[in-house]
Amino acid sequence: MPQATTIAHLSDVHLTPLRGFTPRHWNVKRTLGLINWHRGRKSVHRHEVVDWLIADLASLKCDHIAVTGDLCNIGLPGEYSAALSWLQSIGPPDSVSVVPGNHDIYSRLTTHPGVGLWHDYMSSDAFGAAIAGVGAVAYGFPYVRRVGCIALVGVNSAVETRPFVAAGKVGREQRAAVGRVLAALSGSGLARVVLIHHPPLASQAPGRRQLSDANQFEDVLREHGAELVLHGHNHRDSLVWCQGERGPIPIVGIASGSAGRRHRSEPLARYNLIRVRGDGGRWAIEITGRGLVSGGVAVAELDRQRLEPAE
Ligand SMILES: [Fe+2]
Ligand SMILES: [Fe+2]
Repeated sequence: MPQATTIAHLSDVHLTPLRGFTPRHWNVKRTLGLINWHRGRKSVHRHEVVDWLIADLASLKCDHIAVTGDLCNIGLPGEYSAALSWLQSIGPPDSVSVVPGNHDIYSRLTTHPGVGLWHDYMSSDAFGAAIAGVGAVAYGFPYVRRVGCIALVGVNSAVETRPFVAAGKVGREQRAAVGRVLAALSGSGLARVVLIHHPPLASQAPGRRQLSDANQFEDVLREHGAELVLHGHNHRDSLVWCQGERGPIPIVGIASGSAGRRHRSEPLARYNLIRVRGDGGRWAIEITGRGLVSGGVAVAELDRQRLEPAE
């Protein structure tokens, strides 16, 4: 008997306003990040735009919300608290899953838990804990959660970096754990949906913005397979296919969820409704994009596609 589950994918909301200007947390990276913010993205990312997307999403049938990172901007303590409040406003931890982005693990914090505040939104449920254990690396990644016919696999790609570097890394231990989790889930009858902030393939971002171990992470995906990978970071909508040993793996990137105007070649704010249907054999995945149209306040359907590899 086929089952169907719908998740909403939202990313890079870059919540505003910036909060928590505590002198002891200032350093070169945050100072340069703040200058950059005022020069460019301050006029792009608007909290009310996120609110419009969430209101639209709430009016539609959706089983879960997946947020693939960059909730913050320059990693100030006040930003983590504001992001937690925002998460609580969109749903309880068992209805919302998060993975951090490079703007969430941004620069050193000595006396603040940082993304640890969001633990309840990025940890395994009872089903997943039996598969993933306590996680291999900091903050307990990867985590696993069951949502209907889907197993969400949350991967952390965010690491502290030097100024002007937005690269990420999954890391050897986490890659091995992700491989074990994907292998364990392959016979579970669930569709494996991987959540990661950075685009997982080396070809998807330039050196300063890509996963430094993209080739090794791609090897993990190729060997063990996944039914879908969702990511953010590029602030653009994208679909590429990774040729896994057991079949093609669709990799879907998404625009920022708060872009109120176009920035360079980045589109306006958007989220995807992803409907996964199947019975543990072949999965049918349909994506409906909804977002801002021409900078207005209305959120409308933008496009709809079935994920099918090119012949
Ligand atoms: Fe971002
Ligand atoms: Fe990012």
